[in-house]
Amino acid sequence: MQVVAILGSPRKGGNTETLVEAALRGVRAAGGEAQVFRVHDLDIRPCLGCGYCEREGKCKINDDMSRVNELLARAEGLIFSSPVYFAGVSSPAKALIDRCQVYWARKNVLELEAFENEILIGRRGIFIATAGSRDHGGALFDPAIETVKLFFKAVDYTYSEEILVDNTDRKAVQERPELLEKAYAAGARLIL
Ligand SMILES: Cc1cc2nc3c(=O)[nH]c(=O)nc-3n(C[C@H](O)[C@H](O)[C@H](O)COP(=O)(O)O)c2cc1C
Repeated sequence: MQVVAILGSPRKGGNTETLVEAALRGVRAAGGEAQVFRVHDLDIRPCLGCGYCEREGKCKINDDMSRVNELLARAEGLIFSSPVYFAGVSSPAKALIDRCQVYWARKNVLELEAFENEILIGRRGIFIATAGSRDHGGALFDPAIETVKLFFKAVDYTYSEEILVDNTDRKAVQERPELLEKAYAAGARLIL
């Protein structure tokens, strides 16, 4: 089973990547395979809102998004991750999400399937997010969650699990083994 992992943090070995790596260990231990896209290493230009996808069912921008699209079409599991930046996801992660407007347009305007030859049965996705501050009111992750839920819906993955880690400014995830175990277990559950 193929999993696509989208890493939305620019910091190698940072909190977000460490959690994603733990989840990927779980994926692999359960017999899955994963391909990781580090959004900061990709050339994914912002959506232009031009309406081309609403007419043609595809995006007119030719860049690395085609590699992501190809995997999103045939993967059976998705891990999307980002640090919280000004309440939302990081800007390259958001650019990738916005470029999925084509799937919204295909389904809702053109009444097509999101992807041609799509595997639709039981595709699930996990959201992994980290934030520097304490989640006092319980809403720290809400704007990012809302964005990612809409993204998963557009690309036909069920939002099945989330790992939301606050307070990384004071305590890095590397010092919190219980969170890494949680991420590992969530990764394994994607496959089982
Ligand atoms: C540009 C920027 C904006 C941030 N905005 C927020 C924020 O709105 N709320 C918050 O709790 N932390 C915020 N942070 C802190 C990060 O979410 C936190 O340090 C995160 O764990 C970083 O993940 P990383 O270790 O994978 O880079 C921000 C950090 C940066 C660099």
